[in-house]
Amino acid sequence: MIVLEKVTKKYNDVIPVNNISLQINKGEFFGLLGPNGAGKTTIIRIISSLILPTSGRVLVAGHPVNRNNIDVKSLIGLVPQHNNLESELTVSENLRLHGMLYRMPRKKINERIDELLGFTQLAEKADVQAGKLSGGMKRKLLIARALMHNPSVLLLDEPTVGLDVSSRRVVWDLIKGLHQRGITILLTTHYLEEAEALCSRIALLKNGKLLMSGSLQELKKLVGPIVIEEFKNNKTVLHFYKSQQEALKAASLMGTNIKLRNTRLEDIFVRITEEKSE
Ligand SMILES: Nc1ncnc2c1ncn2[C@@H]1O[C@H](COP(=O)(O)OP(=O)(O)O)[C@@H](O)[C@H]1O
Ligand SMILES: [Mg+2]
Repeated sequence: MIVLEKVTKKYNDVIPVNNISLQINKGEFFGLLGPNGAGKTTIIRIISSLILPTSGRVLVAGHPVNRNNIDVKSLIGLVPQHNNLESELTVSENLRLHGMLYRMPRKKINERIDELLGFTQLAEKADVQAGKLSGGMKRKLLIARALMHNPSVLLLDEPTVGLDVSSRRVVWDLIKGLHQRGITILLTTHYLEEAEALCSRIALLKNGKLLMSGSLQELKKLVGPIVIEEFKNNKTVLHFYKSQQEALKAASLMGTNIKLRNTRLEDIFVRITEEKSE
């Protein structure tokens, strides 16, 4: 559904995206993970044709992505990292405006507004100015807006940054529901537990480079599914093992400051970034 072939973006001496190749399949829930400055937003902007890559090629549903390509634009729904709602306009006016920009027929716009306000549980707020909504509701409205023109791909750029725990869960459930309906999702996040909770396949990004990609199981298998956290010399060290037995055997030879548990995505990230900087 989305293909990146050796995509690079350069700004003078900054290279936010460095030779990235990726494939995201139809119906997949794909997570692009990395710390701040890794290049996530730049990749999202390239896929949504807001900026052009310096080199390489991007395809969406087989269409090459050029600047402001209308075919591609209609396939993609974008939830940007920073709220760009029209704060003076009401919730439903924000949705209507988007429908008009995408040249949807008036009847379709009205139907879609009703449907999406129901889906996001914003119907009660239909006539409230967007600027007066809570952070969680603004996020829901951004998602509803991205869905107005019925895209086949949804790009979500750090959709839960700045939200409290319960609003974050509400947004997660909304996105899960969309995935269940068959939409292809590309989500970026620097919260590893978010990718772990939602995504079926993941790519780890740092300094514009792709460190590793695969399903969570594949990544865990690669480093070892069991981990021992050892606190030694004022530092936590991670040891990875292929099986519980192997880990228990090793644990019996260690001190008491240890914790044995299943490997988490966070551990994999720490391991991989250490490896790459060695
Ligand atoms: N227009 C630009 N000009 C110069 N540098 C940029 C520009 N856009 C992004 N960058 C740099 O590229 C890097 C990656 O940015 P970004 O894609 O926003 O990362 P992320 O979304 O993962 O936090 C950062 O170091 C950022 O400062
Ligand atoms: Mg970003």
